[in-house]
Amino acid sequence: MSNVLIAYSTNSGSTAEVAETLAAELTRLGHNVEVKGCREVTSLAAYDSVIIGAPMIFGWHNTARAFIKKHRLELAAKKTAYFACAMRLTRVPGENLPGIPLTLDPNLVKDPAKAGKKSFKENFTTIGYYLKPMLAAAPKVKPLNVAFFNGKLEMFRLKWWQAAFIMIVVQASPGDYRDWDAIKAWAQTIAAAV
Ligand SMILES: Cc1cc2nc3c(=O)[nH]c(=O)nc-3n(C[C@H](O)[C@H](O)[C@H](O)COP(=O)(O)O)c2cc1C
Repeated sequence: MSNVLIAYSTNSGSTAEVAETLAAELTRLGHNVEVKGCREVTSLAAYDSVIIGAPMIFGWHNTARAFIKKHRLELAAKKTAYFACAMRLTRVPGENLPGIPLTLDPNLVKDPAKAGKKSFKENFTTIGYYLKPMLAAAPKVKPLNVAFFNGKLEMFRLKWWQAAFIMIVVQASPGDYRDWDAIKAWAQTIAAAV
């Protein structure tokens, strides 16, 4: 049994629900789990393992990156895993990726629409483009796994400039695309590793 912290950040709330679902599954599998917003966490001393989750909001949400930077020394000595919720993820064949195990929600990840050529929007949604700042936040922290889950988008919750970015760059259709089975399956992978 491991003492696990799931620290999350969110823009519109849906990543908090993903964190709670992961926690329920890890608890069912015998771990001691706490879920907290990244900004609520003052110390990691009580935990053996830390899972950090956040949506892609102009890159992985900056609250999560700041959390990892702030706690990098403690995190480097613990078991960690990261997850991101997103509306678009582009897998570029042959892309040079860091050697961290990845879990890609099969309904989220797509090949470029035109083989061999990324479109404007696809440039900003590749696995490598997303991963780089996630890992750069604390290069000595080596997550056991990084998961990308399909997210949830509700335009009425957004500020106008956020909605504009979504429409122009991400070009995602509003809706709840979270795949709870994929999320629970990842919790099972992590439960076995922590
Ligand atoms: C301003 C803004 C920027 C976003 N940028 C991206 C992005 O670059 N790539 C992507 O796949 N999704 C992007 N999204 C979609 C969110 O990552 C997705 O809706 C997520 O599930 C929201 O989680 P939350 O409810 O916890 O905030 C963006 C959403 C907003 C509001």
